[in-house]
Amino acid sequence: MNTLTKLALGLMGQLQPRPAEGSTAARISLPAPRRNGGLPLMAALRKRESQRDFAPQALRKQVLSDLLWAAAGINRPALGGRTAPSAMNAQEVLLYVALPRGLFLYEPGAHELQLAAATDVRRVTGYQDFVDTAPLDLVYVADHTRMRLVPAASREAYAYAAAGAMAQNVYLYCASAGLATVIRAWFDRHALAQAMGLGTDHQLLLAQTVGLPRDPASG
Ligand SMILES: Cc1cc2nc3c(=O)[nH]c(=O)nc-3n(C[C@H](O)[C@H](O)[C@H](O)COP(=O)(O)O)c2cc1C
Repeated sequence: MNTLTKLALGLMGQLQPRPAEGSTAARISLPAPRRNGGLPLMAALRKRESQRDFAPQALRKQVLSDLLWAAAGINRPALGGRTAPSAMNAQEVLLYVALPRGLFLYEPGAHELQLAAATDVRRVTGYQDFVDTAPLDLVYVADHTRMRLVPAASREAYAYAAAGAMAQNVYLYCASAGLATVIRAWFDRHALAQAMGLGTDHQLLLAQTVGLPRDPASG
């Protein structure tokens, strides 16, 4: 769906998800993430960039596993520490994954995806047309119930900072794995919150599209 149509539907309160493709599982288990290998950090930093031209193919499950672990996985099991920082270790940013077969919440402890909505919400995750057909769109959501120890005036800023760190992890993983990605803030917040069924304690922060580059030479 093109951007103008999305803007018009949004104004009418009619920007809605599509039916999910295929069967929607309540859980998607992921293989253990590969925590070795990849590009050296400085080489990944050299390649980090935003790309907006995605091939529609689904990512392999192992790649999805590695990607989600890079974004929000547990890297210090004894402490439950994550790959990205959060103020007072509140770990308040929830990572949703919009796939053709449904919207899922990444659960770092079990390292699995849990069904949040049995619809394809990809096209609601952004005004730009590529978000509809790229294989996945990540959505970063602040869970304000986890920030009770953070001063109220700082909660939103801290959550955005934490989401930014997660998004950069995704950028670096993508640079290393030859994937394309772009972080995004331009979406219809009302339509997306509704499509995701978010309550008042949950705040949309950012979205991020990930996929194979349509032109592999650019990846
Ligand atoms: C907070 C934030 C919001 C952004 N929102 C969008 C967006 O909605 N759509 C988009 O295509 N790019 C978006 N971008 C990506 C920027 O356009 C991109 O990072 C910038 O052009 C620099 O390009 P580079 O990432 O390749 O260095 C956003 C970036 C940031 C940090």
